[in-house]
Amino acid sequence: MTIRNIRLINFRNYNNLDIELNDQLNLVIGKNAQGKTNLLESIYISATGRSFRTNRDRELIKLDKREAYIAAKAYINGIQRLIEIKMEQNKQKRIKVNGIELKNIRELDTGLSVVIFSPDDIGLVKDGPSKRRGYLDMSISHLRPIYRYNLNRYNKVLLQRNNLLKSNDKNSNALKLLDIFDMQLGKIGTEIIISRISFLNKLSKISGRIHKNLTSKKEKLALTYISNVDFTGKCKKDIEESFLNNLKLNRKKDLVLGNTSTGPHRDDIKIDINGMDVRMYASQGQQRTIVLSIKLSEVEIIRLDKGSYPILLLDDVFSELDEERRKYLSLSLQGIQTVITSTDIANLEELEGMHKSIFCIDDGKLS
Ligand SMILES: Nc1ncnc2c1ncn2[C@@H]1O[C@H](COP(=O)(O)OP(=O)(O)OP(=O)(O)O)[C@@H](O)[C@H]1O
Ligand SMILES: [Mg+2]
Repeated sequence: MTIRNIRLINFRNYNNLDIELNDQLNLVIGKNAQGKTNLLESIYISATGRSFRTNRDRELIKLDKREAYIAAKAYINGIQRLIEIKMEQNKQKRIKVNGIELKNIRELDTGLSVVIFSPDDIGLVKDGPSKRRGYLDMSISHLRPIYRYNLNRYNKVLLQRNNLLKSNDKNSNALKLLDIFDMQLGKIGTEIIISRISFLNKLSKISGRIHKNLTSKKEKLALTYISNVDFTGKCKKDIEESFLNNLKLNRKKDLVLGNTSTGPHRDDIKIDINGMDVRMYASQGQQRTIVLSIKLSEVEIIRLDKGSYPILLLDDVFSELDEERRKYLSLSLQGIQTVITSTDIANLEELEGMHKSIFCIDDGKLS
């Protein structure tokens, strides 16, 4: 899968951009604040319908304009597909695929997959659990739309349960309602936990292999799902029973706190190198390498699942890696349509000799 052409009108700092992308390597060079990340964002939105930076579409529209437009000409298994996205102030964005408007963004299946790696992603290692849960949720939703559906349902029930817990309504009807919410959480939450464990097992295996290569076999990376639901068996029935049991045991506490203290909304990923927790012990460079291993492993998981590589977006990450890691990354790009941004082409020496297009961006214009 590739994107051949991107057209932007009034998107972020772009007035009007028309860019033909190379099927292999694309370098986007520009000083700070010229529109490099904005261009990657438009590619990401074309593939997924969502931004990786914001949930507010309004921010995507050029400051003094009322609407913005993105059009991407994609090729998927040799067939052209035109993806168009229109964002208007105070309206839901509208998405067309080959001229047909989608009723709901949830239906969006562009056929395109995309993986982005940017310096912010270091938060995956450093920040709190919600960042890691968010990463799992995004990645799994992309591969399995049913997962996003389950997640939305889970969050809705969780909100209702928490509202009821806060309401001080403790009559028998309220308690009956809590029983119903618990049952729903148990069922949907178990699906979520099972999907996350399955994805993380793959991610751990593949990123472990990549990380070993990236570190000259010195570091053994392991990712483990840490659930606060207290289950011992791994089958659906075990997890659901344990979850329901935990909800029951914690109900008194939950009523006092006005919050649901157990469930996948509190889970985390443990990241170890050679058995040590990286949040405490890893250096900046090690943390960056871990994220690189995870992202490259996601690329591989998508290839295994969809039969072709996703589009890879590397936002200003080369300058932060040492020579060995830059070399490894460069060699990993074979056969993957990649867009790389940098403030200086001198940071991208390792890509010399590869077939590529180079674009210079200056104040939202190709130069
Ligand atoms: N809705 C918008 N309207 C107009 N300008 C915007 C909008 N959103 C962002 N910008 C501006 O676009 C410019 C380019 O942003 P971008 O994040 O793409 O920069 P960049 O080239 O990636 O820079 P850096 O090297 O610092 O990461 C910024 O100056 C930003 O303020
Ligand atoms: Mg940027």
